[in-house]
Amino acid sequence: MTDVEIKLSDSEFDKIRDRIYQIAGISLGEAKRVLVISRLTKILRALNITSFASYIDFLDKKASRAEKQVFVNALTTNLTRFYREDHHFDHLIEYVGKIIANPDSLKSSNGKSRLRIWSAGCSTGQEPYTIAMALMGKYPQLKTWDFKILATDVDTDVIAKAAMGTYSAGDLDGLSPAQASVFEKPTAETIRVPAHLRNLMTFKPLNLMENWPIKGPFDAIFCRNVTIYFDKPTQTQVFERFSQLLNEDAYLYIGHSENMKAESLGYMLEGKTIYRRLGQQAASQPQKRVNV
Ligand SMILES: C[S@@+](CC[C@H](N)C(=O)[O-])C[C@H]1O[C@@H](n2cnc3c(N)ncnc32)[C@H](O)[C@@H]1O
Repeated sequence: MTDVEIKLSDSEFDKIRDRIYQIAGISLGEAKRVLVISRLTKILRALNITSFASYIDFLDKKASRAEKQVFVNALTTNLTRFYREDHHFDHLIEYVGKIIANPDSLKSSNGKSRLRIWSAGCSTGQEPYTIAMALMGKYPQLKTWDFKILATDVDTDVIAKAAMGTYSAGDLDGLSPAQASVFEKPTAETIRVPAHLRNLMTFKPLNLMENWPIKGPFDAIFCRNVTIYFDKPTQTQVFERFSQLLNEDAYLYIGHSENMKAESLGYMLEGKTIYRRLGQQAASQPQKRVNV
């Protein structure tokens, strides 16, 4: 196939927007037309498909699960960085300090004190690794806890990258010397999250629009700069589902440009984009943590 541009008609664009919305809840605005053309054209060429109409037909009728996943991966936006919106990590450190100080802290079946955090829409992993670095740096005693971080994303490519824990040295830009010193430096161009932090992680592909095979309860959920791609009803549904997996008084952290009607969803706004999960509207049986 030559490099002739493949044209995208208005109705084809609408169909593609509909398919990604149906699969991943992502609402692509009119302005995303160029992005759609540039990202999907590569896929069409690889499949030897010469028109978007044929590609849509292929997606609807013939594409395997893996081929549909390629479509989803192409249309996600994965921008992230270490210590992004760092006031959330300061807040988390303070909150976990109170959990640690509480003698009635929840215990796991193995008798260890339990701490669970979920990074939902973790992209290439900088967010969950920052959670691990921030907490383990401040509270080394968490080594003896049953402390786990679940990190999920709909995009299987970013999950694979996240699980490796290896990044380019340029990703240290903007970090303090203390924050940067945590990383291993296997080569001049690469940095790696050390094994004791990687071992806290479980990375899994998970589409927030589908079932969540997750038990919880969590002490904190980070879902930052993810629901920005969803419409309001979808956002509301996701925030409601999170509340059912959070312990009472646990926290949901969302992105700087996201918001919700907190009270009606069982939360209280406690700081900039920081929501505490209230007890009285519990849909399930959350367990009480500590009041902060
Ligand atoms: C801009 S990144 C945000 C990464 C990180 N949370 C942060 O704030 O730096 C948004 C992520 O949301 C993921 N995402 C979009 N729709 C999703 C869905 N339906 N289920 C799970 N993840 C989704 C994308 O794949 C992408 O990696």
